Amino acid sequence: MAIEWSAEAGEFHLRNDLISYVVRVLENDWLGHVYFGSALAEGKSYGHLIPQEFFGFSNRLGEPVPLEYPSGGSGDYRIPAVSIELSDGSGVLDLRYKSHRIVQGKPATPGLPSTYVEVGGEAETLEVILADDIARLQVQLLYTIYRDRPVIVRSARIINSGSVSVIIRGAMSASLDLPDSDWQLISLSGEWARECHVERLALRPGRQSVSSTRGASGAQHNPFVVLARPETTEASGEAIGLGLAYSGNFVAEAEVEPFGTARLRTGINPDGFSWVLEPDAEFATPEAILAYSAAGLGELSDAYHRLFRERMVRGSWRDRARPVVINNWEATYFDFDEPKLLAIATAAKEMGIELFVLDDGWFGRRNDDTTSLGDWQVNLAKLPDGLDSLARKVEALGMRFGIWIEPEMVSRSSDLFAEHPDWTIGIPSRPRTEGRTQYVLDMSRPEVVDHLFEVLSKVLGSAPISYVKWDMNRTLTEPFSPTLPAWRQGEFLHRHILGVYKLYDRLTKAFPGILFESCASGGGRFDPGMLAFAPQGWASDDTDAIERIKIQWGTSMAYPINSISAHVSAVPNHQVGRITPLATRAAVAYFGVFGYELDPTAMSAEERAAITDQVAFYKQWRELFQRGRFLRLRSPFEGDRDEAAWMTVAEDGRSAIAAHYQILSRPNPGPKRLRLRGLDGTASYRVSIWPSVGDSDGVPIGPAILGGDELMAAGIVLESSRESAGGGDFRSRLYVLEAL
Ligand code: DGJ
Repeated sequence: MAIEWSAEAGEFHLRNDLISYVVRVLENDWLGHVYFGSALAEGKSYGHLIPQEFFGFSNRLGEPVPLEYPSGGSGDYRIPAVSIELSDGSGVLDLRYKSHRIVQGKPATPGLPSTYVEVGGEAETLEVILADDIARLQVQLLYTIYRDRPVIVRSARIINSGSVSVIIRGAMSASLDLPDSDWQLISLSGEWARECHVERLALRPGRQSVSSTRGASGAQHNPFVVLARPETTEASGEAIGLGLAYSGNFVAEAEVEPFGTARLRTGINPDGFSWVLEPDAEFATPEAILAYSAAGLGELSDAYHRLFRERMVRGSWRDRARPVVINNWEATYFDFDEPKLLAIATAAKEMGIELFVLDDGWFGRRNDDTTSLGDWQVNLAKLPDGLDSLARKVEALGMRFGIWIEPEMVSRSSDLFAEHPDWTIGIPSRPRTEGRTQYVLDMSRPEVVDHLFEVLSKVLGSAPISYVKWDMNRTLTEPFSPTLPAWRQGEFLHRHILGVYKLYDRLTKAFPGILFESCASGGGRFDPGMLAFAPQGWASDDTDAIERIKIQWGTSMAYPINSISAHVSAVPNHQVGRITPLATRAAVAYFGVFGYELDPTAMSAEERAAITDQVAFYKQWRELFQRGRFLRLRSPFEGDRDEAAWMTVAEDGRSAIAAHYQILSRPNPGPKRLRLRGLDGTASYRVSIWPSVGDSDGVPIGPAILGGDELMAAGIVLESSRESAGGGDFRSRLYVLEAL
């Protein structure tokens, strides 16, 4: 890996064995974009890729000059990377190359989550300074390339070197000009309980974007998009990924202009955002993470999985096996007491489950969702012996103990609100909008962050707590803080999310042994930024196995499997009323951080025995499930949408587990095969079906010893028509492969 600078050509070439990213100082000192894609030879200039006769910098306005950090108002009419209002009210910038330096490693982004290196030689960073001498403004562009990842991490810092304030109206983390627009935009979109559904639409002239204005990244769109060629599949074709390490309002947008080029950008959503930049002050954007694959979406996801797992997640839990949990939410909701919880924990322990999570309702006077958020003292009416006593009893069973918190919120009916009504977000002259009968605390105020740190530290230090589920159950309204002057209110939502990060940072550092899980009514804030604090997230409140296939498939486009919490719940399912076999519920949840969300004391002995087997199976293969290479095989969003398949394969290819889900039963189907990927083509594998309750077990699938070449080229024979006809809906089958 290296960053080459050719002074003669005025060209930077960021290169490793997988990718090249080429940037060039154009004749007028604008910073031009030359190339992003598969690795190109070093020691050469690629400047001719920007056709000078076309991009003549003459008076031909509107020409699509490919730029690294474009601004509007002087002939570039596409979506800008940066918009600044200067002190005279004008908004035109002319950013020209001034200097650069190349440094080992990677600098952190102040106050924001960022990817990192452990040793300097792992990555190199190019810092380019652009400046507008009239505006007296500098922009520092940062580009990091890792030694062995097809990834470029970008961010920008805006520096006011003048003597008067300016207003940032928009500052993207990255902007990428592509020479053609023959791409499809893939987004992960949805709503509560159906997060991260894969949408794929061809780019067309004009702008196509996904964004959030909700104060959180949101369940509606994830801050992660992909551009894929029309022919790109999971296993072949070009794809460019663009993720944003940010948990607040974001935009990810593509624009096709009349010459047919495309511009892609991501960053803080300029809608509702502004930032007053005083003399000498600097504004840092969040990081954008670009990745490239010439071999399909699977390889692109693999790059993100590895980066996020290895260099975004931090702390003692990064590399540790994640425990199998049981969470009491769907088992009890708010209706519990200590004996009930201990009965669940005891039954769970007997089935091999390792950690008991006490969800919402353990604090204040909270018996429903109308009260007590903010009052982080144990509810003695429900738990008269306190949290410590319960946690110790759970530990005495041989399990670990975890709790649910929702730090950023306050109920109108709470002691905290009575004491500090002004800590709540809202505009003093207007009523505040309630959501789930709660308000949001103003995290831009340091005293609010300090208070939460203090009270939550007290809770986390008061009992043997090994795990925290950090929830966030409403979006933001009336964005305003009385602590900010009128002209700074546009800063509020960003300042708020910086406060959220501050609290996360302080708590995770103060309690390094605790495993944090992020949550926002399920996947309402499942984004790359959160992974810097919470190694895993609750991907959706929807625990139905069939819905989860789609949600986990979509989430896995960007996020590693060991960041996706997935629980088996009771039937009929609480979100959709569907009845699925217990085996299928587990067969979906295995491909995540596995757990349960049900009342085992209400289950039959047979079901409990099946769960005991499931837990043992997961533990046996935990390393493979949590850290294997995850490959999507058959999409629930394509074809007849009545089946899906995916697999995980060990780094060395010696073991793998594939899952096939027959979502709806087909009448009289023909013989079907499923081609696997990622195996060792020279190895022979023992292939066994993993049996469990509710499945048609033990049906022979041909020879039990099959070659990796055959499994990948010809495939596994899935099932016979006899089985399929009588098997019913929602069936699943797991194939365990072990190389001989
Ligand atoms: C929303 C979460 O996603 C659920 O899992 C649960 O923790 C509830 N909140 C509790 O209020």
